[in-house]
Amino acid sequence: TAEQKRSDYDLMLHAARFYQHQLKHHANSKTVIDYIKGRGLSGETAKKFMIGYAPSEWEALCQQLGRNKEQKEQLVELKLASEKSPGRQFDFFRDRLMFPIRDKRGRVIAFGGRVMQADQGPKYLNSPETRIFHKGFELYGLYEAKQAHKKLEHILIVEGYMDVVALAEQGIEYAVAALGTATTAEHMHTLFRTTDKVICCYDGDRAGRDAAWRALENALPYLGDGKSLKFVFLPDGEDPDSLVQKEGKDAFEARLSEADDFTKVLFNKLSQEIDLTQDAGKAKLLSDALPLIEKIPSDFYQENILEHLGRLIGRTREQLNNRVKSPKQQHA
Ligand code: CTP
Ligand code: MN
Ligand code: MN
Ligand code: MN
Ligand code: MN
Repeated sequence: TAEQKRSDYDLMLHAARFYQHQLKHHANSKTVIDYIKGRGLSGETAKKFMIGYAPSEWEALCQQLGRNKEQKEQLVELKLASEKSPGRQFDFFRDRLMFPIRDKRGRVIAFGGRVMQADQGPKYLNSPETRIFHKGFELYGLYEAKQAHKKLEHILIVEGYMDVVALAEQGIEYAVAALGTATTAEHMHTLFRTTDKVICCYDGDRAGRDAAWRALENALPYLGDGKSLKFVFLPDGEDPDSLVQKEGKDAFEARLSEADDFTKVLFNKLSQEIDLTQDAGKAKLLSDALPLIEKIPSDFYQENILEHLGRLIGRTREQLNNRVKSPKQQHA
């Protein structure tokens, strides 16, 4: 007699549809739609990404989708609702612009929610981990990018939801974002299974430059022959969203075509606070570089980098040879 149990994915989809409906029909609609337009987004792009609005009321979603005890518990388990006290649930997302996060098969598994005015709490609120959402593994926009291209020649990694969506609006439909975390090794694994060329383009600030370095370290084990990893560094204060709106698709893609190869970024970073005219500096570069070089599975890349390293520290390729363990040897 009991209603058939609603699957987690079904519930998440219904929540996304509820937020989409609110975007059009809630009393705050005009404010929300003005905000979206003010950020340069068309209705078409909003629809493609299923962007919605979580109403300001405390129990809007709970009332709509939590019709009985089991359903309410499921809402709490999927972090769409919080529990004040046993049996008293309220909506987790309130008065926020909602970005559904889909897995690579297109199933809604989580949400990011943005405030529309300052002073309304943290700028973004993201679903915590649940049994269907594992943050370090998912990439916002990957499903949409796959929908837009039969084969993804390259993928651009950016920091935020708005970057992915603004780029898509301008016709750059191959951007994905790590979800408010660093780009993890698992993200890199997924990306290099999906494409041969990955370009990282983080915000033009300190956090963005740090994120680039962590991404590089995490990507090394996936740099097999034929894979490529590049970096674009944006002017101070810009992010892909602000910049693509300012200069347009062609100028932005020109930046991508001039991206720095990971080798250059690696040596720039490692040489940063080192005096390469001194033996101590050369020794430090060697000891910092070797463990990173050893992670790279491509012999071709290893050779290139070792050659470059040799030039910087005045060692021949042969002298460096016995210092390097190839990844194959390490796993033996
Ligand atoms: N983020 C977060 N929590 C915050 C701030 C940021 O989870 N309080 C995550 C979000 O996924 C966000 C990303 O980090 O998209 C990048 O943050 P930031 O550059 O500050 O935001 P933008 O994406 O530029 O967002 P907007 O343009 O709307 O300000
Ligand atoms: Mn259904
Ligand atoms: Mn940022
Ligand atoms: Mn940003
Ligand atoms: Mn931004």
